[in-house]
Amino acid sequence: MKLAVEIENLSFVYPDGNRALDGVSFLVPKGLKTVILGPNGAGKSTLLLHLNGLHTPSHGKVKIFGKVIGEENMREIRKNVGLVFQDPDDQLFAPTIFDDVAFGPQNLELEKNAILRRVEEALKAVDMWELRERPPHHLSLGQKKRAAIAGVLAMEPAIVVLDEPMAYLDPRGQEEITAILNKLQEEGKTVIVSTHDLDWALEWADYVVVLNSGRVVAEGDKGLLTNRRLLEQNGLKAPILVKLFEDFEEKLGIPMSLEEAKKKLKRLVF
Ligand SMILES: Nc1ncnc2c1ncn2[C@@H]1O[C@H](COP(=O)(O)OP(=O)(O)OP(=O)(O)O)[C@@H](O)[C@H]1O
Ligand SMILES: [Mg+2]
Repeated sequence: MKLAVEIENLSFVYPDGNRALDGVSFLVPKGLKTVILGPNGAGKSTLLLHLNGLHTPSHGKVKIFGKVIGEENMREIRKNVGLVFQDPDDQLFAPTIFDDVAFGPQNLELEKNAILRRVEEALKAVDMWELRERPPHHLSLGQKKRAAIAGVLAMEPAIVVLDEPMAYLDPRGQEEITAILNKLQEEGKTVIVSTHDLDWALEWADYVVVLNSGRVVAEGDKGLLTNRRLLEQNGLKAPILVKLFEDFEEKLGIPMSLEEAKKKLKRLVF
């Protein structure tokens, strides 16, 4: 099993003394659809900013494809790890969306045609090609989110990290981004997403890490999302499906697995 990311005893203290991460360790195997969950202030964004070297650990280390992130390999790390920021205003800076998305590929010193192909593909993938001449500040928040995602897609990184990509997207936008994330995974890329949306996580994730107060409080497959008590103890709301099944169980007095419950629900509803 090849590992995409290894986080070893990572702690991070902000300059004001705030300890945002406290001994975080977990591994992300290559190609796994990984979700980082946690309430506001849990440390999700702080953690993700370490994955492409934007934050330097106060203690511990982060490895990408087996190599510890450091000054000497930063260029290679940034090529391998594309990060979509939580706030698109932190990411978009060029006079137009087109220029913004082209900026990364231009820095890779690709041929002009290759740059144009990448920009067009990325903007079309997020349905933003028509708006390519707009300045970022003339876009809605959801459109900015899409443009920021396009900027990372155009770099074609092996590891794609997205900090709350679904926030501010309408249902169709969420479906489109989910389809893009699935396609990336099918191409063999490792996709890591932070979110509060446990319904989406239940549908999408292979591997789940729950953070709270800068620590990993649980990790495992998405069966973990059926543990309502654990989720609620850590400031999260269990997926609606899980709540529904538990209510059934309580009312019908029959314990059942998620699969059984799904079948029962289907029979009841359809
Ligand atoms: N620049 C900063 N200086 C000091 N403390 C910070 C800074 N940025 C974040 N923090 C603190 O670090 C902790 C983790 O914040 P972080 O933004 O990583 O959480 P998060 O899980 O991404 O939250 P959210 O769900 O709100 O995005 C919080 O206590 C936050 O107040
Ligand atoms: Mg955050």
